[in-house]
Amino acid sequence: MHILHVVGARPNFMKAAPVMAALNSCKGVRQTLVHTGQHYDFSMSDVFFQQLGMPSPDVNLAVGSGTHAQQTAAIMCHLEVVMFDRKPDLVVVYGDVNSTVAAALVCTKLLISVAHVEAGLRSFDRTMPEEINRLLTDRVADLLLTPSTDGNENLQGEGVPAERIHFVGNVMIDTLIRLLPVADHHCPDRLHERYALITLHRPANVDDPMLLNQIIDSILDSSQDLAVIFPVHPRTRKQLKRTGYGPRLRFLDPIPYLEFIALQRDATVVITDSGGVQEETTYLGVPCLTVRENTERPVTVTLGTNTLVGRNPERLRIELELIIGGRGKRGQVPPLWDGHASRRIAEVLLAAGRPAKYELPTTAS
Ligand code: UD1
Repeated sequence: MHILHVVGARPNFMKAAPVMAALNSCKGVRQTLVHTGQHYDFSMSDVFFQQLGMPSPDVNLAVGSGTHAQQTAAIMCHLEVVMFDRKPDLVVVYGDVNSTVAAALVCTKLLISVAHVEAGLRSFDRTMPEEINRLLTDRVADLLLTPSTDGNENLQGEGVPAERIHFVGNVMIDTLIRLLPVADHHCPDRLHERYALITLHRPANVDDPMLLNQIIDSILDSSQDLAVIFPVHPRTRKQLKRTGYGPRLRFLDPIPYLEFIALQRDATVVITDSGGVQEETTYLGVPCLTVRENTERPVTVTLGTNTLVGRNPERLRIELELIIGGRGKRGQVPPLWDGHASRRIAEVLLAAGRPAKYELPTTAS
């Protein structure tokens, strides 16, 4: 059985790594890894491959950045050629980035079976590009692998037949569990002070420089006793004024996976608009304040350590003060966030087997 994985952006890599590793030990499986090149900086891509121990991609489409239409279309055009060439039995896509939906659309039109890892998540906010990517990918994928039971409920509510939905748990947590012990050796400047860790990259928060700077000012105002560490995403970098914040705020370039999980683990509080960080802090038991009006990962709020504060500086201040005073949420780890999701995913993929439904044509028509 030939399984082809498509990854493209930073949050895909830590999900694909354990699935590929689990399939590696399965007899009769051949794997191909395609990187779309959606993320291309060393600090956003190559260093993750190194630290996660992933094989180099067999194919790199090198599509780079662009508008949503440009980026998605470029991935589709290049990927179609790869599919004709490589003829996989099954394609695995991850998460909710533009590479995910592009790959799902190409494959489904070629009658190649698609498995979606991290299916079923919904923010119910169609102003987020990721929500569109999630909806479309789940609509066409054949196997829907969910990280939490809300995913199953959402999919069933949308009319997806139960036999296509598999609750496998959170595969990103497999990587976190595997690499946390290694992370210590990658955090040479281990901080001995208390600190808040910030990550912000959503267009809704960072594309307007005034709003971005207001959010940062309100964090600094309400965390007087804490250092503030801010690894800056390339998208955010463009909008940020880098001076005038005072010495408590430390801007860093995007940091590699191992350093980042160590920083999360030791933080007093994490303030974010990322999806994955909401999950990692829940697993680590670190209080997280999410600067968004909604989340597609509600289990991090109902069971975990996450609190949604919206883009409301006053709410952010109140919640920060609670956490700094030691009254942050404690939380618990959601079901099947246990380090074995990749094994369950491999079992589902192999049980699905090679579909007999198609013979891939040799050229487009
Ligand atoms: C993408 C995902 C988002 C995910 C995020 C993680 C979509 C729609 N969005 O957002 O869901 O949370 O990745 O990082 O797929 N850039 C660089 N170097 C890079 C990559 C990007 O400088 O290696 C800059 C480019 O100027 C680009 C901008 O960052 O225009 C945004 O990159 P893009 O891939 O469009 O989306 P992200 O904001 O990274």
